[in-house]
Amino acid sequence: MVPPLRCEEDSMSPTLNRREFVASAAAGLAAARSAPALGRAPAVQAPRNVPPVVVASANGHRYTNGGTETCVETAFRRMTGGGDVLDALVAGVNIVELDPEDASVGYGGRPNADGVVQLDACCMHGPKRRAGGVAALEGVRTPSNVARMVADLTDHHLLVGAGAQRFARQLGFTIEDDLNTERSRRLWLDWKRRIDPGHYLDPDRGLDSDRAGEPAAAARRDGAGLDMLAEGVLTEDELYGTINCDGINAAGEVCGVTTTSGLAWKIPGRVGDSPILGAGLYVDGAVGAAGSTGRGEANLYNLASFLIVEQMRAGRHPLDAGMEALGRVRANTVEPRLLNGRGLPAFGLSFYILDRRGRYAGVSMYAGENSRYAVCTENGAELAPLEPLLEGSARG
Ligand code: GLY
Repeated sequence: MVPPLRCEEDSMSPTLNRREFVASAAAGLAAARSAPALGRAPAVQAPRNVPPVVVASANGHRYTNGGTETCVETAFRRMTGGGDVLDALVAGVNIVELDPEDASVGYGGRPNADGVVQLDACCMHGPKRRAGGVAALEGVRTPSNVARMVADLTDHHLLVGAGAQRFARQLGFTIEDDLNTERSRRLWLDWKRRIDPGHYLDPDRGLDSDRAGEPAAAARRDGAGLDMLAEGVLTEDELYGTINCDGINAAGEVCGVTTTSGLAWKIPGRVGDSPILGAGLYVDGAVGAAGSTGRGEANLYNLASFLIVEQMRAGRHPLDAGMEALGRVRANTVEPRLLNGRGLPAFGLSFYILDRRGRYAGVSMYAGENSRYAVCTENGAELAPLEPLLEGSARG
């Protein structure tokens, strides 16, 4: 007989602490083994009178640029005021997309290696079973709105590059030549000087730059961003940053949205996990939602948001489901270049999760000083600690 899930017993508690998670893990695995095959998804009905909640990455609860309401506060207010859940979430992430101070999303996001800001976003509407995304979109400050239009106005799920921009222009979005801010351009130039010191000179160091005898550009490229992290020139959020925001209202309607400028200084045309359904976001209106921030390539390989939702469909608590996905990513990370000195993943990856009962969790590969996620309930908004899978840090 399959032992009951600890988290099912704990249905009054929206989150589990680490001890409860560990205690529930074995039972969870047993329950997962008995879960229905993926092709036979049960028609679970979302309950009514769910405690409404919005979860997001930590940048979903930061007051920047003079704002008085954060992303999760805006989304929660609109959602509980009777607005469509996805409309509310998109309005929330718009605050972050339009904020020049947020260096990883929308306007002022990190440009690619050519200095061009290319944005990715997707959204999913649980009750409507509709989804849309855009990738490598240039010139539009709010790619989440364009993704929403792909979902609402087309038969397609994903538009990319010039086609996505043409679609946005046709719908009346303002197309700008350049979404860089002074800071995003300055950091790109700093990165350029580090990877190509022979051509991009640092005026502060003079023409006899002390970088002259440094390793060739190709050898420096991988390390340049990490050097900048170590020097405090930029934060980890700025290197891989993104916002994911998911919500459920009292009627049990679940939606989600993810939006990003992607990996800083990426190869032009690189698309990460954020706009890919099942990776950067997955919503099943009858089960729940999951979305991510962090190293997109690791998530893409494992389609972890889909995995998390399927784990919840099998009855697992959002925390258990998230830990399962992180464990899968860890197990599939085998290339030495992606491992730290302890043989563990040398990168961060986080998931923001809620289920149809309004239970929620935020999980990450490692704990860290910025290891928080945003949550807004009827008690207000806060930054809560992400539950880490692994001790220590990505650097070893
Ligand atoms: N998770 C954002 C990216 O890798 O593009």
